[in-house]
Amino acid sequence: MELKEKTVLVTGASSGIGLLVASKLHENGYQVIGTSRDPEKHQAKLPFKLLPLDLNDDHSIASFGKQLFSQVKTLDVLINNAGYLVNGLAEETPIDLGKQQFETNFWGTIKITNELLPYFRRQKHGKIITLGSLLGLVSLPNTSYYSASKHALEGYFKALRSELNQFNIKVVMVEPISFKTNIGESATVAKGTIADYDQFRQKVIAYTKTAFDKAPDPAPVIATLLRAVKEKNPTFGYPVGKGSSIVLLLQHFAYKLFEKSILKSINASK
Ligand SMILES: NC(=O)c1ccc[n+]([C@@H]2O[C@H](COP(=O)([O-])OP(=O)(O)OC[C@H]3O[C@@H](n4cnc5c(N)ncnc54)[C@H](OP(=O)(O)O)[C@@H]3O)[C@@H](O)[C@H]2O)c1
Repeated sequence: MELKEKTVLVTGASSGIGLLVASKLHENGYQVIGTSRDPEKHQAKLPFKLLPLDLNDDHSIASFGKQLFSQVKTLDVLINNAGYLVNGLAEETPIDLGKQQFETNFWGTIKITNELLPYFRRQKHGKIITLGSLLGLVSLPNTSYYSASKHALEGYFKALRSELNQFNIKVVMVEPISFKTNIGESATVAKGTIADYDQFRQKVIAYTKTAFDKAPDPAPVIATLLRAVKEKNPTFGYPVGKGSSIVLLLQHFAYKLFEKSILKSINASK
C-alpha cells in the first residue's frame, strides 16, 4: 500500500505526544486524523483534520466511527493517546477522582477501541497502538490511580492482542517514562487531608515537581511511535526513555532495592 494512502487516527492530538506524533506522521505523508474535545479551539493551527471526541462521553464515542469513515475510506492505525493524570497519595485521593481516572484512561480507551474494531475486522488488517506508561509496568508514590489505570490497559490489550491475531490486527503498547508535555499542568491533584502524611506528602510533591521540571523533550516517544506504526510485526511492549530498562530490570530482579532507591530519592527531595 502506498504510504500516502495509510490512514492514522490519533486521539488527543491537540497537545503533547499526540500533537507531535500526528504532526510528524502528516509530515511523513500519512493521512492523519486527530481528535480533541474542542477541535475548533485548535484546528486553525493544525495541518491535519481534528474530529471531536470526548472519552468521557458515550454519545461522542458511539457516533465516532460513522464520523471518521465519512472522512476516510480505511483506517490502518489507531493511536490511543488521549489521557490525563490524577496525582495524590492513595488514601487521600477521593474514590470519585480514581473512578474518573479509570473512566478516561481505561474505559474511554477501551470504548473507542471497541467502536472501531468492527471496521478493522471488516478490513482484515489494522494496528492499535496504545499509550501506556512505564507507570503501567512499575508504580510510584503519588500516582496510584494513574498507574493502576495504565496497568489495567496492559492486561486488557495483552489479551486483546491474541484475540485479534486471527484478523491480522496488531496490538501494541508504548510505555514512556516521564517526558515534557502538558500532562503535569492538566493533572488533577488530590488535596492533602490526613495529617499523618504531611511530611511525606511534602517530599513526594517536591519529588514529582522535580520529575516534571527535569523531564526531557518527548522526541524519543515520537520516534518509538513511528517505529511501531511502520513495523510489520511489532512486539507488544515498547518501553521508552532513559533509565526505563534499568527500572524494569531492578523491579523484576531486585524489588526491595528498587523500592529503597525510590524512597531514598523521595526522602532527599525538598
Ligand atoms: N508525558 C509523559 O511523561 C507521559 C508518560 C507516559 C505516558 N503518557 C501518556 O501519553 C498520553 C498523552 O499524554 P501527554 O503527556 O501528551 O499529555 P497532554 O499534553 O496533556 O495531552 C493529552 C491529550 O489528551 C486529550 N484528552 C485528555 N482528556 C481527554 C478526554 N476525556 N477525552 C478525549 N481526549 C482527552 C487532550 O485533548 P483535548 O484537551 O483537546 O481534548 C490532549 O490532546 C497519555 O495517555 C499519557 O498518559 C505520557
